[in-house]
Amino acid sequence: MDLYEYQARDVFEKYGVPVLAGIVADTPEEVKAAAEKIGGVVVVKAQVKTGGRGKAGGVKVAKTPDEAYEAAKAILGLDIKGHVVKRVMVAQGAAIAEEFYFSVLLDRANRSYLSLCSVEGGMEIEQLAVEKPEALARVEVNPLTGIDKAKAVEIARAANFPEDLVEKVSDVFVKLYDVYKGEDATLVEVNPLVRTDSGDIIALDGKVTLDDNASEIRHPEHEALEDKDAADPLEAKAKQSGLNYVKLDGEVGIIGNGAGLVMSTLDVVAYAGENHNGVKPANFLDIGGGASAEVMAAGLDVILGDPQVKSVFVNVFGGITACDAVANGIKGALETLGSAASKPLVVRLDGNRVEEGRAILAEYAHPLVTLAATMDEGADKAAELANA
Ligand SMILES: Nc1ncnc2c1ncn2[C@@H]1O[C@H](COP(=O)(O)OP(=O)(O)OP(=O)(O)O)[C@@H](O)[C@H]1O
Ligand SMILES: [Mg+2]
Repeated sequence: MDLYEYQARDVFEKYGVPVLAGIVADTPEEVKAAAEKIGGVVVVKAQVKTGGRGKAGGVKVAKTPDEAYEAAKAILGLDIKGHVVKRVMVAQGAAIAEEFYFSVLLDRANRSYLSLCSVEGGMEIEQLAVEKPEALARVEVNPLTGIDKAKAVEIARAANFPEDLVEKVSDVFVKLYDVYKGEDATLVEVNPLVRTDSGDIIALDGKVTLDDNASEIRHPEHEALEDKDAADPLEAKAKQSGLNYVKLDGEVGIIGNGAGLVMSTLDVVAYAGENHNGVKPANFLDIGGGASAEVMAAGLDVILGDPQVKSVFVNVFGGITACDAVANGIKGALETLGSAASKPLVVRLDGNRVEEGRAILAEYAHPLVTLAATMDEGADKAAELANA
């Protein structure tokens, strides 16, 4: 789970990372009141889970509460890369002398942690990595020892911090690692970490990604950080049923068992769609190993709830759960859903007990169900029906 900037700020504060005052607000009136409370120059910042807010007009400096009110009017409702701003943070303004970059993240490829650090912060780090790779230090962090004071000093020196700043920034790096470790994060990023005119080191913007695998048992308190309103209602419904569902933009709903099969089904449907007016997959839905009637009904229920879906392609390879069980699952699902099942369904079964599975559906002869012999044939039929 990614945290909003204001949530990251709160977590930083808890671990003693230096941050400035910040108050969240949902209306221009609340923003004005927050600006009055903080006093002096403030910065009104869009709270959306995407980068480049500044460039998109989502970060504005305000010298007075009235200016803050106007800034909030401009920012609330703004669309930043598909994220509509519903909330802002009013942050105390900093007198910035220099902007730096620091992050620590899970480096899956190397089965290790990695710290990235640069004295050239502020700008997009992806851009810095391409244009000036030598300005971005990459320091491996051993997960067993983490970032202690010595490691933090090593990182600061690798990033070419002037010697008189090394002491101060390395203290902050140690605390940021405490956040990373203490909260079971997979990313803690600060851009910019600033030096103010008065010489303080402050984290002005934070990105934190928490490891969802740690939430349930190690951090039950993380659930409260989840933004339930922002979650897609269908995604929330699928999650409740234990299904892996991702909403996409197209028209063909896809149900398969196993992530690999579902992913290749997406490709095949997109390819077939080129012959049918460019229709595309509408979602990714993996029902996993046990394709029982309940699981199939839950999956179909989620997909049919998406108004963009015009047809559904069920592509299942029978393994431990044999094809006859899957066929009975589909049958049961259609009976459970009744008239809620209103869109054509193309079913391709293969693998364990495929003949029995096909026979069950052939005999059932539901008017909405078409059987396909192969994956390509099924994809083509589903694309054709979506375009009809
Ligand atoms: N509290 C603050 N006081 C003064 N200046 C600020 C403050 N917060 C941000 N800024 C300035 O605005 C710039 C952009 O802010 P920030 O890094 O939070 O957003 P962003 O980088 O545009 O968004 P994202 O990190 O989502 O890409 C900073 O580099 C900094 O110069
Ligand atoms: Mg930033």
